[in-house]
Amino acid sequence: MVYPAAMWQPPQRIKHTLPVVSWPSESEAAASKLFSKIKLGGLELSSRTWVPAMVPWRATDEGFVTDDVVDWYARFAQGRPGAIVVEATGIRDVPSGPLMRAGHERFIPGLRRLVEAVKDASDGQTAIFIQLIDFLQIRRRPAAETFFARFFKVEARHREALSKLRADAAWLACDDQAVQAELLQLGDEDLDTILSARELDDLRFGYRERVWDTHLPQIRELPQVLPELFANAAANAFSAGFDGVELHYAHAYTMASFLSALNTRDDGYGKSREERVRLPLEVIAHVRKRIGEDRVLGLRFLGDEVIDGGNRVEDALFFAQRFAEAGVDFLSLSKGGKFEDAKQPKVGKAAYPYTGPSGYECMPSVYSDERGPFARNVALASSIKKSINDAGHNIPVVTAGGIGTFEEAESILSRGEADIIGAARQTIADPDWFLKMRVGAGEDIRRCEYTNYCEGLDQNHKQVTCKLWDRKEMDEPAIKLDHSGKRRLTAPTWKR
Ligand SMILES: Cc1cc2nc3c(=O)[nH]c(=O)nc-3n(C[C@H](O)[C@H](O)[C@H](O)COP(=O)(O)O)c2cc1C
Ligand code: SF4
Repeated sequence: MVYPAAMWQPPQRIKHTLPVVSWPSESEAAASKLFSKIKLGGLELSSRTWVPAMVPWRATDEGFVTDDVVDWYARFAQGRPGAIVVEATGIRDVPSGPLMRAGHERFIPGLRRLVEAVKDASDGQTAIFIQLIDFLQIRRRPAAETFFARFFKVEARHREALSKLRADAAWLACDDQAVQAELLQLGDEDLDTILSARELDDLRFGYRERVWDTHLPQIRELPQVLPELFANAAANAFSAGFDGVELHYAHAYTMASFLSALNTRDDGYGKSREERVRLPLEVIAHVRKRIGEDRVLGLRFLGDEVIDGGNRVEDALFFAQRFAEAGVDFLSLSKGGKFEDAKQPKVGKAAYPYTGPSGYECMPSVYSDERGPFARNVALASSIKKSINDAGHNIPVVTAGGIGTFEEAESILSRGEADIIGAARQTIADPDWFLKMRVGAGEDIRRCEYTNYCEGLDQNHKQVTCKLWDRKEMDEPAIKLDHSGKRRLTAPTWKR
């Protein structure tokens, strides 16, 4: 297996070694900020440790919770983090492959089972949130023949460009099929002069809807339908017993695209920052009205989109202020993860938003530039925290990205750069790592190597596991294996 071949790496490709660690004793952990309590709205977390949302591809094709989903989160809960955010879960009741869904009441019993399993496994110590997502349609990259024959609409401008290229006015009167057949013969350079940027993108990456495609009715009506869809899914999540919901306003998906500086909608929901944040605020207001003031409502958004023409930290500072004023209970910061700079997929595969430079910033690996992957995104969280705190909002800010040691986590909190430490891959590598730190057993921690084997699996929509444990202790009783029958699905039990 050669995962994760398709991920971008900084050209310097400096291989960083893991930071040297000294783990805390039990009493040091007990006295630490990391293991101190914190309030999110009316909810108190048992510590400032946080497992950010991660899709492990274990739901059914109909979006239901499976035993494997339950096992995955119960395994995290055994390590007793302060909070677990359950993976991006669809708000619509439409087929979306093995992605969890919350857009209908029939999903509530499965979600409830998941909540109960986390509460049981953590002895009630871990709060459980769910990340709610909306995303737009994306198709696989077509073969060029299929593209020109089925998806391409011949227009006068194509005929004109072709007749200019061939220096032959006869092309102006040719039928569609002849134009399509001729375009199919052309090389990239010639196509660049004839097709629009969007047509080239559809040909080379596959068709993908944008929030500014307002000529499409389903896109134009997003501001009318999304508040209710989010509110409905949030209400279902609370009926299932979740402690809170996290609105997914990050990465490559619908709400992040509304916030994006690339959003050119001209209906009052695009262009200026004020208009780009309008729908995200309307969603917050609608969800809040439905769930009530006492429920925990937070969101995840980008401190920087890391794409040409995209949002920078100045945009994020503006949005953070508005989110804080709107009364959210936490802000979780991420970075990048966009379609705009994704690698070109192979024919028959869909573009994946974590394969370009912005994807690298989202899940930085040890093959890096001079800065390296460790705690790489803290500065964004820190400037956002400072700006909202200065404006009198004391909403907890969650940071994540390459944080896998006690010292790093503790110093971020001590310097006041963030309020809560998110650790995604380190928690996959060792779901017990929070507990091991707490009881002074840090030497037992299996440390994430940040080489992104797990992310390679995610990219291929394969069940996510960790290279450090997926073939280990295969004789453990009742272990479950992945679809290939070769990899265990949850980390081995910690034998203290
Ligand atoms: C397998 C995998 C799946 C992920 N899925 C999500 C997701 O559903 N929603 C989300 O906001 N971030 C997702 N992420 C990003 C993580 O939440 C996190 O921001 C990122 O991995 C950086 O943190 P880390 O360095 O601690 O891993 C995913 C990451 C991984 C590795
Ligand atoms: S596969 Fe394991 S070690 Fe590698 S990045 Fe993922 S969690 Fe870390």
